[in-house]
Amino acid sequence: MRRRCIIFAMSDEALRKQLDELRSALHEHNYRYHVLDQPVISDAEYDRMLAELRAIEEEHPEWVTPDSPTQRAGSQPSPRFVKVTHPAPILSLANAFDEAGLRAWFERITRLDERVSKASFVAEPKLDGLSVVLHYKDGLFAQGATRGNGDVGEDVTANLRTLRTLPLRIPAAAGGPQPPANLYVRGEVFFYKADFEALNKRQAEEGGQIYQTARNTAAGTLRQLDASITASRPLALYVYNVVSADGSLPATQWDTLDYLRQLGFPVAGESRLCNGLDDVLAAYGEWEQTREQLPYEVDGMVVKVNDLRLAEDLGVVGKDPRASIAYKFPAIEVTTQLHGIGVNVGRTGVLTPYAMLEPVEIGGVIVRQATLHNFDFIEEKDIRVGDRVMVKRAGDVIPYVIGPVLAARTRKEKKYVPPDKCPACQQPVEKIEGEVAWYCINSACPEQLVRNIEHFVSRSTLDIVGLGIKIVVQLIEAGLVKDVADLYSLTREDLLGIEGFADKKADNLITSIQASKERSLAQLFYALGIRGVGDVVAQMLARKYRDLDELATASMDDIDDIEGIGPSIAEAIVDWFSKPANQQVLAKLKAAGFWPQSEPPKAPSGPQPFAGKTFVITGTLPGMSRKEAQQFIEALGGKVSGSVSAKTSYVVVGEEAGSKLDKARELGITTLDEDALKALAQG
Ligand code: IVH
Repeated sequence: MRRRCIIFAMSDEALRKQLDELRSALHEHNYRYHVLDQPVISDAEYDRMLAELRAIEEEHPEWVTPDSPTQRAGSQPSPRFVKVTHPAPILSLANAFDEAGLRAWFERITRLDERVSKASFVAEPKLDGLSVVLHYKDGLFAQGATRGNGDVGEDVTANLRTLRTLPLRIPAAAGGPQPPANLYVRGEVFFYKADFEALNKRQAEEGGQIYQTARNTAAGTLRQLDASITASRPLALYVYNVVSADGSLPATQWDTLDYLRQLGFPVAGESRLCNGLDDVLAAYGEWEQTREQLPYEVDGMVVKVNDLRLAEDLGVVGKDPRASIAYKFPAIEVTTQLHGIGVNVGRTGVLTPYAMLEPVEIGGVIVRQATLHNFDFIEEKDIRVGDRVMVKRAGDVIPYVIGPVLAARTRKEKKYVPPDKCPACQQPVEKIEGEVAWYCINSACPEQLVRNIEHFVSRSTLDIVGLGIKIVVQLIEAGLVKDVADLYSLTREDLLGIEGFADKKADNLITSIQASKERSLAQLFYALGIRGVGDVVAQMLARKYRDLDELATASMDDIDDIEGIGPSIAEAIVDWFSKPANQQVLAKLKAAGFWPQSEPPKAPSGPQPFAGKTFVITGTLPGMSRKEAQQFIEALGGKVSGSVSAKTSYVVVGEEAGSKLDKARELGITTLDEDALKALAQG
């Protein structure tokens, strides 16, 4: 809607100029994407530009020309392949980019046919692959073609035969329905995310080309003249439509999916039958949250009128059937300009580079910064200041840079040189052996202190309410807090001297600081911010050591003996307690009366199927937090460890799992996802 208003407000001359600019940009992006496989903008940006062009052309139909990018229904078939004329036009889909767009579609078609108001819909994942048409003659796979221009495609039968999930004969299993003599079905060929990654890994090992986009690689793979190349790459298939058949067919899309499944075709299990538009919107909301857990890329949801008779009656506009629409997900990957690289100093002194970006909207949020992980990453990906970079924002994960768009280089980009001094305190930085990270080792570094206190008071550690980062900085600047223990000697008068504090706010903060003294030993161990001591390790320590004195005097070997704690964490702990500044912190905590003792272990209750088993949790699980997963395992008698070793029984793996998963694979340890963990609990 906003776009239309802008269009109305523009003069014809300005609008014409914008149309020309959009067309030439779209032509170029199209060429880069399809011919060069070197896109410089994301698919979503392309779609947005195309939608803008379409809106202008709708206002001025007299400006539409046959070469406009809006008039392209698909690629022309290549002369290299035998042409195949489809039995019916292979249609495309109109897009909706937001709820308003979806509602507008619904209202449009309800106006055309009142039956839509009571209709049911099928919501299907919109797979990001390429369309194929498969012809089965007397139950045998006879021919397969690409979509081409919608009327004529390319014969890629030999290549399609190499797809392991494509049934060469239907029904694939005995007892399935007998198919009509001629059956044409439509589906999507794509790569599973894991297979695409594995393919690129193999390419890298063999020194071959690294593929940028799974969709283009799938298209290129399917259009190989040598089918053995197709066979060497694990393409997958999902089927979702019957294009034509000479026999009776199910009357609804929902039953069609079931029919296709019974014939032995792979059909996306995520599809949903929706009773009206509200159901569709609810399903969309859920999928938007869970899309990243799917094993394949989806760029939206296809909404289809379930009643196929009604769908046919609704007809077609151009190449788009009125009865279906692609309801796109907000983009999670976009490109933008990298203006500079900044460096954050973490609470353990770790230096983390981050990208300072030209602000860009990703999935409804304006992103200005994104992490660059570490300095090796910048080097490996050859990310330069001034580059156009791909940025991803997925779920709750901090936005991160994927890499530079090499094709957009202007040669004005500058190589980045990592700092040799801490940006906060100007002291030299150091690398710890065996780690990729660089550290500021100055324990008096002011930035580290801010981060340390921020961690100490955060919800996951001591949960001191009302102590945000701004106040932390104020307290440090006022010289009231030089380490975490100083928080406990803050007085009401101290706080009243700080800008923004009145009686009530000061009292509340003092109360919540004092209340934190009730926290457990494990919480305090974690809060201290010792390198490598996360919540799991802190709990292991609290099980072995009665209080801070006991841990402070423990030897490296003694700590290392704990299953799940390795020598490098043990060393970091001993090192932390050996520092005079930290010993002072401990003395102040003791004096303040914050000296928790470990709780005696509770006797187990209920069945203990995980007794004797050690689990490691890595990545983000879909249905439970790390803490919940740990509690779940411990309640069933299992132990949770922070690191993978030969003693680990299982590694529970979620999204964005990192090196622990690699280690598990290396050691041949069984990995479980959340469902498998629950199944194991059931025995
Ligand atoms: S239905 C008349 N269903 O998305 C039927 N298409 O942007 C029109 N696609 O060309 C297509 N998943 O290649 C349909 N579940 C699905 C789909 C799907 C992916 C692709 C298809 C289509 C494109 C339109």
